[in-house]
Amino acid sequence: MDVARSADTASDADEAFDAIVVGGGLIGLAAAWRAAERGVRVAVADPDPGSGASRVAAGMLAPVTEAHYGEEPLLRLGLESARRYPGFIADLERAAGIPAGYRACGTLAVAFDRDDLAALDELAAYHRRLGLESARLTGRECRELEPLLTPAVGGGLLVAGDHQVDNRMLTAALLKALSNAGVPLYRDRVVGITVEGGRVAGARLGAGRALRAGLVVLAAGCHGGDIAGLPPGAVPAVRPVKGQILRLTVPAAQAPFLSRIVRGTVRGRPVYLVPRDHGELVVGATAEELGFDTQVTAGGVYGLLRDAHHLVPGVGELPLAQASAGLRPASADNAPLLGPVGPDGPRGLILATGHYRNGVLLTPVTADVIAELLATGNLPPIAHGFRPTRFDRAPRATAAAAGVGPDRTASR
Ligand code: GLY
Repeated sequence: MDVARSADTASDADEAFDAIVVGGGLIGLAAAWRAAERGVRVAVADPDPGSGASRVAAGMLAPVTEAHYGEEPLLRLGLESARRYPGFIADLERAAGIPAGYRACGTLAVAFDRDDLAALDELAAYHRRLGLESARLTGRECRELEPLLTPAVGGGLLVAGDHQVDNRMLTAALLKALSNAGVPLYRDRVVGITVEGGRVAGARLGAGRALRAGLVVLAAGCHGGDIAGLPPGAVPAVRPVKGQILRLTVPAAQAPFLSRIVRGTVRGRPVYLVPRDHGELVVGATAEELGFDTQVTAGGVYGLLRDAHHLVPGVGELPLAQASAGLRPASADNAPLLGPVGPDGPRGLILATGHYRNGVLLTPVTADVIAELLATGNLPPIAHGFRPTRFDRAPRATAAAAGVGPDRTASR
């Protein structure tokens, strides 16, 4: 059954649910699918599911190579989500009947010049302090693993547990699993949240249709603030961070071009190359604070190709298939917002956004957390540090949209 058609043909009597998920990116789709598995009557609304950051992303599952000083709680959440990935994919492939694109290939992080090498050694020391699995390699050892690396590479870190998933295949599998489960997908924009007596009562769609539900999950990435009916304290405090990214094609005669993810810094600038099984090579990504701009620029493409070419000169010979730009939803502390909004917002309004650079990685754990919350009213302990209410004490200017006040569980 086509889920879009099932929603389009639903009668008014069908349009009452336990929960509505606003946003059909990876986070929203996965949360809805896991919730439906738990028996929650759920619907998803999105004018073009899977078309935003979920489509543009590279699909790296990189809690260790993207670990940052001071972000240890986020690292723990990322490691837990990476641990859940194989089970999540197995369940999803069973439910969808199509492959979801997971590849356990590991990651090699390399350094280009002496300053890059010094930064790599700091990262290696940080990994050692935290007991994370990573192995320091010489430049020669790096080239033994990846012969197409430039001889200029001075050293690297092999992180055997940082893998990848093809985010476009993952999106397609989630859409199919939702369809197989009979979850309605409304291909329309949510223009308003309906609130009655201080509690969420449903959502209004652009075409004028009203959906009723006592629980609404905002999983619309950096577009969650566009929805009418939310008091300022309930609008997710996320800002868009633009990422430009390239998709190259590796001709069969040149495969395997790279055997694992290669990422590196080139004179302090980060770049990554993600080789897919089916011959795609994803090269990313810029990080630009330009509001809602999604223009692909000559400078963005040039910078990515220049740095990728410095690390792997053969990149210059590959056909360029696609250049795209997406918006990462970033919170004030780079960590996701998971759970009910505070007392400024209506009861029953739940956030699942702000995943910034980690949306694909954090999809399984976010889906589990939101499904548990929708099914039982309880936010699992692993998400307690990521409640939207954590910005309680922040100045109003930065917390205005974070959802402030003590936590509430969502009761059904
Ligand atoms: N996690 C990779 C990126 O955000 O570019």
